[in-house]
Amino acid sequence: MITEIKQRLNAILNPATGNTFEAEKRWKHVGMNGEKLVAEYNRDGITPAEKRVIEAEITKSLSDLIGIDNIMVKTTSTQSQDVFKALDKQSSEAPAAPAASQPAQIKAGHGTIDKKKPVPGVDKIIAIGSGKGGVGKSTFTANLALTLSKQGKKVGVIDADIYGPSLPMIFGKREEKPRSNSEKKIIPVEAYGIKFMSFGFFINEEDPVIWRGPMLGGVLNQFLFDVDWTGLDYLLIDLPPGTGDIQLSMIQNAHVDGAIIISTPQDIALLDAKKGAEMFKKLNLPLIGMVENMSSFICHSCGTEHFIFGEGGVEKAVEKLEIPFLGKIPLEIELRTGSDNGVPYMTQDKFTSRPVWKSFQDIGHKVDDFFRPLPTEQPKNGFLSKILGLNK
Ligand SMILES: Nc1ncnc2c1ncn2[C@@H]1O[C@H](COP(=O)(O)OP(=O)(O)OP(=O)(O)O)[C@@H](O)[C@H]1O
Ligand SMILES: [Mg+2]
Repeated sequence: MITEIKQRLNAILNPATGNTFEAEKRWKHVGMNGEKLVAEYNRDGITPAEKRVIEAEITKSLSDLIGIDNIMVKTTSTQSQDVFKALDKQSSEAPAAPAASQPAQIKAGHGTIDKKKPVPGVDKIIAIGSGKGGVGKSTFTANLALTLSKQGKKVGVIDADIYGPSLPMIFGKREEKPRSNSEKKIIPVEAYGIKFMSFGFFINEEDPVIWRGPMLGGVLNQFLFDVDWTGLDYLLIDLPPGTGDIQLSMIQNAHVDGAIIISTPQDIALLDAKKGAEMFKKLNLPLIGMVENMSSFICHSCGTEHFIFGEGGVEKAVEKLEIPFLGKIPLEIELRTGSDNGVPYMTQDKFTSRPVWKSFQDIGHKVDDFFRPLPTEQPKNGFLSKILGLNK
């Protein structure tokens, strides 16, 4: 198979020149690493836009031979290694330009992530995942960020959901274009006191999904290390739905401190919870716990609770698996409309007495307690206690 792969890779065209990669001797390394194909080419003279075309071509040309999640495209360059190559160009062309912010760019490709280096400026990083799509992961992430912020923490969010980035909409910043500062770091967009970065800022909605796969590792890497996250207590990562290779590869090299899994009651076959927990276990990532979203509908006029998707599904599943349970978030129309309108639920103080508000507050405290447990009482019968007269 590797011969066939090499032949196809040699036939890839450089969109800048129209020549094949073989003619330009672009390939530096093509080989299998277990089930994964690692293909590295020299990207000198290739713009970020052309690089995306190349990645799409590579994926398309190999998709019948190898799963797109198993294709890792890397690049080398004899020219500048700087991520913001285009920015460099701009600044060298206009050296007298003030140190004002400039449009930020992201790099396609997996990139290689340094071994678990800490993210500068961030205390704790929390990955938020789900077995399936549409369970409310982004809604939860945004509102948990706002909750922790209300509880006095400085919070940032990375929208790593390459397939359906939704944080720009939830935070009401769809039109925003991130800029980079004079140190070439991307300045996160800020809304309601939350700093956030989304893949949505860098793609057109009509861009084909196929080239997004190979970008995943590199994008998260850049969002972690090339964004100015200074001063954060928590950085939350909204992962793409699912518990497969894509999610694994995104976070396997990043220094993540804990993980939360979101589920709805009806899709929480024990197996789903297990898969989610196993994914994070494989990464040696402490599981902060599971959250049951859309757990019930509480009628505002009569107060009756209706268990539309069944009752207590997640709680029962996690009990068996001995996974911590963080809480339930009922269905609430305003949770959806708030997200759709860019005014998230937890920014609206009129909801403070509602069960959803209370659930978020409760989960926020549990998350914080996970990392900053209350000091336990000193044992009172030890040697020191005796000296200090603490024994009764
Ligand atoms: N508790 C809730 N009550 C009412 N609506 C909710 C609730 N949680 C989420 N929603 C709504 O459900 C829809 C899906 O939620 P969301 O986009 O957060 O899910 P997701 O898991 O991030 O989805 P995707 O897999 O597409 O990224 C959204 O319209 C959201 O507003
Ligand atoms: Mg989402």
